[in-house]
Amino acid sequence: MTIDLTEDPRLDVTGPRAFPPGFLFGAATAAYQIEGAAHEDGRRDSIWDAFSRVPGAVINGDNGDVACDHYHRYRDDVALMKEMGLQTYRFSTSWSRVRPDGGAVNPAGVDFYRRLADELLDAGILPWLTLYHWDLPQALQERGGWANRDTADRFTEYALDMHDALGDRVNVWTTLNEPWCASFLSYTAGIHAPGHFSMSEGMLAAHHLLLGHGQTVRELRARDASLTLGITLNLTVADPADPTDPADVDAARRIDGQFNRWFLDPLFRGRYPADILSDFEKRDAAAVAVLEAAVRPGDLDAISTPIDTLGVNYYHGELVGGTPPVVPPPRGDAPTDRETGSPFPASDGIFWHDRGLARTAMNWEVQPDGLTRLLRRTWDEYAQPAGVALFVTENGAAYDDEVIVVDGETRVPDAERSAFLRAHLGAVLDAVEAGVDVRGYFYWSLLDNYEWAWGYEKRFGIVRVDYDTQVRTVKDSGREYRRIIAARELDD
Ligand code: NOJ
Repeated sequence: MTIDLTEDPRLDVTGPRAFPPGFLFGAATAAYQIEGAAHEDGRRDSIWDAFSRVPGAVINGDNGDVACDHYHRYRDDVALMKEMGLQTYRFSTSWSRVRPDGGAVNPAGVDFYRRLADELLDAGILPWLTLYHWDLPQALQERGGWANRDTADRFTEYALDMHDALGDRVNVWTTLNEPWCASFLSYTAGIHAPGHFSMSEGMLAAHHLLLGHGQTVRELRARDASLTLGITLNLTVADPADPTDPADVDAARRIDGQFNRWFLDPLFRGRYPADILSDFEKRDAAAVAVLEAAVRPGDLDAISTPIDTLGVNYYHGELVGGTPPVVPPPRGDAPTDRETGSPFPASDGIFWHDRGLARTAMNWEVQPDGLTRLLRRTWDEYAQPAGVALFVTENGAAYDDEVIVVDGETRVPDAERSAFLRAHLGAVLDAVEAGVDVRGYFYWSLLDNYEWAWGYEKRFGIVRVDYDTQVRTVKDSGREYRRIIAARELDD
């Protein structure tokens, strides 16, 4: 199964709130968050296995040892996807299952993904494979992890192994998921594995992740020109608390620069944004010098190797200012809220404000209009000039779900999640109607799963997982998604 990016479906919209023909509806997961079987069939530790053992690193000390036991239940999970009408499924492969020490290939590990891809193809579901969703083999972390340039080469080798094994079955490949999280949140803010607090490591990690991405795209393209290749970024929309206050406008610029442009500019323009480089320099000149010494001639050419798709992960916007708000935003129990108040140490002097929007269980504001604006901006400034199609590769919400039994049937009446889903699909349609070439939407997540530093407390699934019994229950939001996919339009 492949996707055809040559026809422009925007010309063919059939009704006022109808999705264009060819628009793909899917759901997403990631290996460490759902697979379990952490010590089976030759898999070794990833940085998340190691990090989850650090006292206090993860809420309740939760880990991915069992997770949703998807490794053993993938057939049932694919059957569930088919029943829900999903057209595509975005999953990641675990590097530490495939190359447990970062080196030699583990045939049993590779075989799991072959079986999974076959199951999806048999069900008529397009497999959308992500090569790196944060679970670096611990053996490579012990050699410096992403702060070590060698990891970029090891990543490309691993990608080519995966292509050897799955190239005949899988046509759509994403190199990295959210390199901002895999670098700054992990090596600078210490909130994700490996839990380091170093500005220079964060910048090196980001550079080496992008380098690994670029050289992998080159190699995969050289092997098979028919592949659809891309990357997924976590992008945000930062609004100044007071658009007439220069300090607030500058805070929004810095957030946009750190989260969005630090990745979009090298990928699409072959350079790091000068304003953010200079902000970083003011904060930590030594770290910037380390980065500058690490960037070799040709790196940015490799990083800006043309891609076919850009995956946008969008959860919430931010309202920021250069001075503290009179009324601070509500604080949640998330590690970012508890410990730093900001997910990024380099945002010194940036303050988060509140605009009174509803919030999810992650304490993230619900702002569907931000998705429309983000897609329009990303399209106008980056994707359109490069001829790259956009996909929303993640969007979703955690809520404290309630389980009820109605006439002997277990139900999860998650009306807030259904409303979130409808509102964000509407926001995607608004972008399509404004001329943005967005070709698909993946809800995060298919299943409740291991929410990283938040453990199992936060549930994003449209399918509930009972972690004691591993029983799956399609939530009301999952039923709603099935209806929308079948109708291919929104009825509001
Ligand atoms: C983005 C990440 O890719 C995913 O792993 C995570 O669970 C969701 N955001 C929700 O936080």
